[in-house]
Amino acid sequence: IKMGSITNVSEYESIAKEKLPKMVYDYYASGAEDQWTLSENRNAFSRILFRPRILIDVSKIDISTTVLGFKISMPIMIAPTAMQKMAHPEGEYATARAASAAGTIMTLSSWATSSVEEVASTGPGIRFFQLYVYKDRNVVAQLVRRAERAGFKAIALTVDTPRLGRRESDIKNRFVLPPHLTLKNFEGLNLGTMDKANDSGLASYVAGQIDRTLSWKDVQWLQTITSLPILVKGVLTAEDARIAVQAGAAGIIVSNHGARQLDYVPATIMALEEVVKATQGRIPVFLDGGVRRGTDVFKALALGASGIFIGRPVVFSLASEGEAGVRNVLQMLREEFELTMALSGCRSLKEITRDHIVTEWDAPR
Ligand code: FNR
Repeated sequence: IKMGSITNVSEYESIAKEKLPKMVYDYYASGAEDQWTLSENRNAFSRILFRPRILIDVSKIDISTTVLGFKISMPIMIAPTAMQKMAHPEGEYATARAASAAGTIMTLSSWATSSVEEVASTGPGIRFFQLYVYKDRNVVAQLVRRAERAGFKAIALTVDTPRLGRRESDIKNRFVLPPHLTLKNFEGLNLGTMDKANDSGLASYVAGQIDRTLSWKDVQWLQTITSLPILVKGVLTAEDARIAVQAGAAGIIVSNHGARQLDYVPATIMALEEVVKATQGRIPVFLDGGVRRGTDVFKALALGASGIFIGRPVVFSLASEGEAGVRNVLQMLREEFELTMALSGCRSLKEITRDHIVTEWDAPR
């Protein structure tokens, strides 16, 4: 595929594969172990079909929405993905600018190669900060304070990573952050670099620094050190959704970490509805994992999501074309989603209902 002739989000992956060093491409693309969940994240969307409504005036369509009180142009947001300067020299700056140009939210990874202050300085925009909880809680408290001061509007607390999932290509490649880059948020704390290890350097880093004792009481603790709303990222069951509500979460992100943690968990789109039901409308539920088409966005909203996040499409388009690539991904998804709404007879997000889709697991009507 030539760059000028890109017509959908998925096409960026093969361009990125050609451009990037193998170690970097593999890190971005991989899932854990058998990568069953990785393909399932995509496949599951094809088990959901539309029940479009016809002869509805769709000459005007509004896809704007509000997330945690922030007005955004569409229910499509950017998930945290680590180390974006491996994809492109402008890394997280480019992503932040593309998100802001599209009028949507970017989530910055704890493990970004640009700091919270640097990303804030690149221009206006609504941004969330993704948090990994380190063993050293002073590090966490400092970082959260810095994110707050830099104007980040919410914390996405990642709860599916007490240890790093087994990503075999990272083990084979002995993946480490290239020496010219650092995990910028941790640079001053002597935690910004990754040692070469006999397996994945990132897995060793996580084993050394990330707190395996993390539990629900820490969700409460986090609320004592910040006034920012907390999104719990990585919920896959009704049981945990109910606890998240109890624990004071401002929202839930149904996520399997892009299939990079526990393999053989269901596709996120399959887990979404039970989480939505369990929250009983008390807090918004978001989804990430395998969203590559506007139709995927619609399906997630029909199953009760308030919005979705994209991960790999950002790093692949960033690798291909920098900021312009990420802008293009957001633009293509926006246009596809709007078209899906028109063709299924919906003029606003609140008009999207469960009856606009039928899933393979629904009882026959
Ligand atoms: C991730 N993800 C992730 N999540 C997180 O909480 N902190 C992080 O630093 C990262 N880093 C990261 C790097 C890369 C290369 C990928 C692919 C993913 C997970 C990410 O936020 C999101 O859950 C998934 O990427 C969503 O799935 P898709 O859109 O990639 O299929």
